[in-house]
Amino acid sequence: MSCQANRPGAGNAITFPVLQTFVNRFPVLLPLVLLAYSTARAQTPPQEPPLPLHSFRPGEVWPDDHGTAINAHGGGILVYKGVYYWFGEHKIEGPRGNRAMVGVHAYSSTDLYNWKDEGIALPVSEDWTSEIGRGCIMERPKVIYNARTGKFVKWFHLELRGQGYHAARAGVAVADRPAGPYQYAGSFRLNPGVWPVDPGDPPSLAAGKPQAAQGDSNARLIADMPAGQMSRDMTLFVDDDGTAYQIAASEDNLALHITRLTPDYLKADTRYVRVFPGGYNEAPTLFKRAGRYYMITSGCTGWGPNAARSAMADSIWGPWTALGNPCAGTPEQVSKTFGGQATYVLPVPGKPDAFIFMADIWRPRNPIDGRYVWLPIEWHEGRPILRWRDEWDLGAFGGH
Ligand code: DGJ
Repeated sequence: MSCQANRPGAGNAITFPVLQTFVNRFPVLLPLVLLAYSTARAQTPPQEPPLPLHSFRPGEVWPDDHGTAINAHGGGILVYKGVYYWFGEHKIEGPRGNRAMVGVHAYSSTDLYNWKDEGIALPVSEDWTSEIGRGCIMERPKVIYNARTGKFVKWFHLELRGQGYHAARAGVAVADRPAGPYQYAGSFRLNPGVWPVDPGDPPSLAAGKPQAAQGDSNARLIADMPAGQMSRDMTLFVDDDGTAYQIAASEDNLALHITRLTPDYLKADTRYVRVFPGGYNEAPTLFKRAGRYYMITSGCTGWGPNAARSAMADSIWGPWTALGNPCAGTPEQVSKTFGGQATYVLPVPGKPDAFIFMADIWRPRNPIDGRYVWLPIEWHEGRPILRWRDEWDLGAFGGH
């Protein structure tokens, strides 16, 4: 799918009547002329760049600097030295398009409206035996910068080829430059043999339970204890003190787990908390406003949209308080999150209280045609609120 700016005079074709006249007059020169013409065409960029954009248009095709639709689904944003880097799943056409056939795509921007294609930051491997071999599932990539090591660290949800969504692993890749290339560093389940810190659970769980009772809501957690906890839909969050956390749908999507990362951000650091066990949350986002932590998540309905949820906590370790559906609008918009599913919340640098909610409109029958819904977060009595806008810009946050 591509989106080309439709501008008068953009084409460079030789019209047929001109060519006909020339051939009639100078037939022997025709091969030379055709050679020169084809060389000129080969050097011409295939598409005209679009005009600079000055606003967000949720749900519409969003062209990059080549005029091609941005292909970065389930994505997140890294802000580094005044530049935004958008990483997301590169989808292809057709029903197989949700599998990783290409890799993680990167774009850069200085204004959030206009995005330069930085190419594939983490390609799938051509090695059939690789965990990230073409045809695996790589979802929801997020990148953070580690000031201690000077490395850019990418985490993503990895499913091994041919295993559906059963592997439920966290994949990690590392780069020296923000746009990559990223080197795959391996994958794992989280926190094997470690019990969660969970203010909401009985002490017996924190102390360790040898077996789950029938119907026990902790059964999945306990079953996965030896091999490690599942990690599906995920995001990353870096706190003010530089401590990073991974937030993932775990326990077969029954619970969210918030796991502290090691100081190098490459592994889990054996401390994690369960949030809303039995709550079936997916698509986690986590952000901080005025010292408080907030999440916007979704329910679990595959690629189909459902009602978003929001939550708040004074400590990242909880307890987390559910704040309800953050969407305001028509019953359809509220019950389906404007057709989208959360992927990231971007705090806009230099604009206090400015947060952009990022979501995906999935198109499972033709995943490359998935769209992006970016909306400004409004606040009402301490709750995040999302309202549909056909078009908006950063002026929505006040100032310039
Ligand atoms: C919903 C998730 O949020 C997506 O990332 C993807 O994993 C689909 N489920 C798969 O059905």
